[in-house]
Amino acid sequence: MSAPEDLVITGGAPIRGRLRLPGCKGISHRALLFGAIAEGDSRVRGLASGQDVRSTARALVALGVTVHDIDGTTTVAGRGFDGLVEPSTVLDCGNSATTMRMLTGLLAGRPFLSVLTGDASLVERPMARVAAPLRTMGARIDGRHDGERAPLVVRGGALTATSIRLPAASGQVKTALVLAALQAAGTTEIVEPAPSRDHTERMLVASGAPIQRIDDRSLRVTGGAPTPFDLDVPGDPSSAAFFVVAAVITPGSELLLEDVLLNPGRIEFVEVLQRMGAHIELHQRDTRLGEPVGDIAVTSGPLGATVVDCHEAIIDEVPALAVAAAFADGVTEFREAAEMRVKETDRIATLEQELSKLGVGVEARPDAMTVRGGAPRRATFDSHGDHRIARAAAVAASAFDGESRIIGWRAAAVSYPAFADDLARLTGSGT
Ligand code: S3P
Repeated sequence: MSAPEDLVITGGAPIRGRLRLPGCKGISHRALLFGAIAEGDSRVRGLASGQDVRSTARALVALGVTVHDIDGTTTVAGRGFDGLVEPSTVLDCGNSATTMRMLTGLLAGRPFLSVLTGDASLVERPMARVAAPLRTMGARIDGRHDGERAPLVVRGGALTATSIRLPAASGQVKTALVLAALQAAGTTEIVEPAPSRDHTERMLVASGAPIQRIDDRSLRVTGGAPTPFDLDVPGDPSSAAFFVVAAVITPGSELLLEDVLLNPGRIEFVEVLQRMGAHIELHQRDTRLGEPVGDIAVTSGPLGATVVDCHEAIIDEVPALAVAAAFADGVTEFREAAEMRVKETDRIATLEQELSKLGVGVEARPDAMTVRGGAPRRATFDSHGDHRIARAAAVAASAFDGESRIIGWRAAAVSYPAFADDLARLTGSGT
């Protein structure tokens, strides 16, 4: 499904009803990768619909894996690590840093050469964070800027198990290292300074891979692979955040998001919004491949300001929370936010620009941002080519009476092409 170049939203109507969100992007990337290194067919229903996950699937096909989709069920015909073949083309990761970083770990251990590139945003994003720890295992990775930027050249080969202390918590880097460690002889220990999202551990433990969690920031991995699995991908919590904020700030709203991933490392935005006074309830209903799944119920109401530490568990939800802050009474502070500057866009800069158009006070610092909320007003927004900035703008627009335009809406297709259609259906303005 494609998204229009620009989008006009007629806001003001309450957001009411139920919604099943597209599958979680983080789980979808991993389901494809882990399915590819298992020997046999894994079946994945409800894979994330955007271009990012398609980039991972395309790269795996170029590595010789058969991935096919029938009626919403994707079958990954895994060939084990040894079944992967040298790609005859450059692997284009599009806009997806997750694809590039995780694949780099996988390919570091394969006995062939791979070249990875991406779009104009991705080739400017930091890759040393994944290349440097992989090099301590013996990986040969080169790239622009002395190996720090894509295109990356990975000359795969034998890897050595070692003990790695990461300088920053990162779900992507940890996953790259796990994929490398599964190919190394011996035991690799990975220690992070703080917890990062743990889908990799949960999914690999549940599918029988030799990975052992020591505590919430360290794990041990020995050589081996997962076994094939069946998975219904739960709804994406990062996409949920945008609908939750839209419902909270649009009077008269009452929304139920069904079958959402409720991993504690992904739903901290709920706690932040509850602290701001929002009425949100979580109901866990299931566990799938080690992941808690359930519903999120939300009703509209006034918000107050808060302080948000922008660590890994919440970093992707800051654009949605920044809109909530614009509608809240008082000054909300987003701190420890330096990582925001190296996302799909410099999100401190792009949020500062877009929120300022609402007439609210925004102050940006190198690693922080404050938003003085109050009485925001309608505006014409720009996505800056960033899917989450596009959706943050749509959420603000949905709360105002009358029409607002979002220039560059097309960027939303990276992760959730049908977002505008789903929003329109819930406000009664859809077809
Ligand atoms: C992700 C981890 C986070 C997140 C990204 C997806 C993952 O990035 O921002 O969108 O799936 O592991 P970092 O690994 O850079 O923290």
